[in-house]
Amino acid sequence: MSWTKESLQELVKAKVADRLFVSVSNREPYIHTFSNDGIRCSVPASGLTVALDPVMRACGGVWVAWGSGDADRAVADERSRIEVPPEAPQYSLRRVWLTKEEEDGYYLGFSNEALWPLCHVVYARPTFNQADWDIYKRVNQLFAEAVLDEIGDREAFIFIQDYHLALLSRLIKAKNPKVITAQFWHIPWPSAEIFRICPWQEEILDGLLGNDLLGFHVAYHCRNFLETVDRTLECKIDYEGSTVSRGGGTTLVHPFPISVDFERIGQDAAGGEVIREMQNIQRRWGLSDKFVGVGVDRLDYTKGISERLKALDKFFAKYPEYQGRVVFFQLGEPSRIHIKKYKELNAEVDDLVEEINWKYQSGNWKPIIYVREHLSPAPLLAFQRLADFCVVSSLHDGMNLVAKEFISSSVDGKGVLILSRFTGAARELTDALLINPYAIDEFAEAIKEAIEMPEEEGQRRMARLREIVQQNNIYCWAAGIISELAKFEFAKG
Ligand code: G6P
Repeated sequence: MSWTKESLQELVKAKVADRLFVSVSNREPYIHTFSNDGIRCSVPASGLTVALDPVMRACGGVWVAWGSGDADRAVADERSRIEVPPEAPQYSLRRVWLTKEEEDGYYLGFSNEALWPLCHVVYARPTFNQADWDIYKRVNQLFAEAVLDEIGDREAFIFIQDYHLALLSRLIKAKNPKVITAQFWHIPWPSAEIFRICPWQEEILDGLLGNDLLGFHVAYHCRNFLETVDRTLECKIDYEGSTVSRGGGTTLVHPFPISVDFERIGQDAAGGEVIREMQNIQRRWGLSDKFVGVGVDRLDYTKGISERLKALDKFFAKYPEYQGRVVFFQLGEPSRIHIKKYKELNAEVDDLVEEINWKYQSGNWKPIIYVREHLSPAPLLAFQRLADFCVVSSLHDGMNLVAKEFISSSVDGKGVLILSRFTGAARELTDALLINPYAIDEFAEAIKEAIEMPEEEGQRRMARLREIVQQNNIYCWAAGIISELAKFEFAKG
């Protein structure tokens, strides 16, 4: 039996009961911005928020997150709250306001110039800046105050997300012991050897050990975490039971591979809006006699976008018979653009697309169509459904949900997934064509193999991939975490 929204709701009713369920993340699930036709509500390009939204819809409760949209304040009430999803509210979003200085030091600085490159081993050097660290601590305190305000003196389960909030659990517990906290680290955890260059590693590890439960996508990241703690802090580690005990508290460290809402994506992908979008795209780009490839990414240097473009270049050079017959859509939403490395990546991707198109284009055919903008879910699904192959070529990735979205959207069972071995997803999705994105020649061969794969083999592989994602869906992920959380006893107080 696979978990559904309904069975998760049953579990929540039984286990969470009358306690409050609070989820906390940096990124908010709905962003309000001013546009020419009034206030617009959009969904950000974040695997985390896309995954957690259906869970919150099922569980209800409060989601605390940074209010980053320029119209966020205009639509929130006096307690900085708004009910979401806007069309049919199912939970509350409590927004935390940050100044430009806080956004710079906490979000762009320590979270994304120190922890992000530190945890993703892609040879991008982290920057450790004392002022950013000080602001990071201050902003974690701000989030703690918002959470404490939401809880009052109720018993609550708090579900903290990701690397922006490593200190949160301890800060909350210092003021209110009547909480049980779980934290999920959505990005990889590197080896102890790599993590030890962080000047504040002890405080970060101690902060994370404030949680009752700490989750990573895969067992390998749990192991790396335990070894990092072992080398850094005075504590007792039980490798068998995967627990760390320190200062009277114990943290269970456990893998929970995150996923997507398989059923809902399938329903949307088969719906009228997506089918109309597919027809539009086909007509607009003249795709009826073409092989179509797609890549969908936040423009991030961990995603291997340049390597993908270089592999396409190699493919067209080595197999000229495919010139004029293959179109690759690179869909990418700009991200963290105030950080220099992201600016450089944008320029590099622009250059590569320009160069490759210049080299091969003829008549009205261009090998690469680059759409660098925010796309809403319907056109994204339409591109994925049209694709004969989808490329996920991350250089390192905790999980990668684009791979699972592509599989869920393949309602007709067509499409080949080319997937980097360096994603968490590769451990589950072994029927994809697994590649090393750094090995450009091998990567180019995988593109050829995807295009030439006999239909029957493609369908067989996709059927197995669909079974896996249907079984290990987002509700299964949430149910695993909530079941573990519910085993902890609330402190008396
Ligand atoms: C990754 C992180 C998320 C983050 C997302 C988008 O998936 O794990 O925490 O929300 O990237 O990045 P952004 O900086 O735009 O929130």
